[in-house]
Amino acid sequence: MSTQTSPPDVADVPRVTTQTLKEMKAAGVPIAMLTAYDYTSARLLDGAGVDVLLVGDSASNVMAGNETTLPMTLDQMIYHAQCVVRACERALVLMDLPFGTFQGDSKEALSSAIRVMKETGAHGVKLEGGEPVVPTVDRLVTAGIPVMGHLGLTPQSINQFGTYTVRAREEEEAEQLLEDARRLEEAGCFALVLEKIPADLGEAVTEAVDIPVIGIGAGAATDGQVLVSHDALGLTTDFNPRFVRRYANLAEQITEATQQYIEDVRNRDFPGEEESY
Ligand code: KIV
Repeated sequence: MSTQTSPPDVADVPRVTTQTLKEMKAAGVPIAMLTAYDYTSARLLDGAGVDVLLVGDSASNVMAGNETTLPMTLDQMIYHAQCVVRACERALVLMDLPFGTFQGDSKEALSSAIRVMKETGAHGVKLEGGEPVVPTVDRLVTAGIPVMGHLGLTPQSINQFGTYTVRAREEEEAEQLLEDARRLEEAGCFALVLEKIPADLGEAVTEAVDIPVIGIGAGAATDGQVLVSHDALGLTTDFNPRFVRRYANLAEQITEATQQYIEDVRNRDFPGEEESY
């Protein structure tokens, strides 16, 4: 008689934890992650069964209309994270440490991350960078704060890069990224995001580390995928990188619905008798 048991249905757990993500990698179950910034959307995404919700500093672009992620403050991010945490029953909720709140030194990073954990109820933080942030990751993890790393295209460094093009195409940069991934794993990151890098490098990193690797424009071999929800749902129309797949066209639906509403108001078709007291 076989004593083998089938792998637990990790995708069906009532609450996703960092441990669940580890088990999903081990069981080969791809991790679905999206961004969220507000209560109503987060409730829908969580209810639909997404594994991880990231309160990304992409809020700077899609919520605030800024060109880069740099202006986002810790207070603003904390507000968004509080809204998302209130909505979630199942998803693991992570919050980006915004630009200027963790790069100074690991002590500054720790006080930022402690604010996030105390004031939002999020389950961990994400921060951008390789080798230079290793001591910071170590300090946060030592304090009991789960940290997700972020390599490849790191939008907080846009002024250094100058463009949002694919990163690590050259061998030297690819090797550095692989080394950074290993160092972040050693420092205690529970997972990594890889943004906009060649698919074969995405695969190499995924194989080189034991922690889950979530890709955005990093090919199909990573342990999971993340998209900015506004892109995936078609709320944004002027951002069309190759890595975005649109699962809905909410921009069109919202425009049409709004036009219909305006027409109904102009024609005195709204409110009707049944909508009046
Ligand atoms: O801020 C963000 O939305 C992100 C994702 C693109 C991973 O960092």
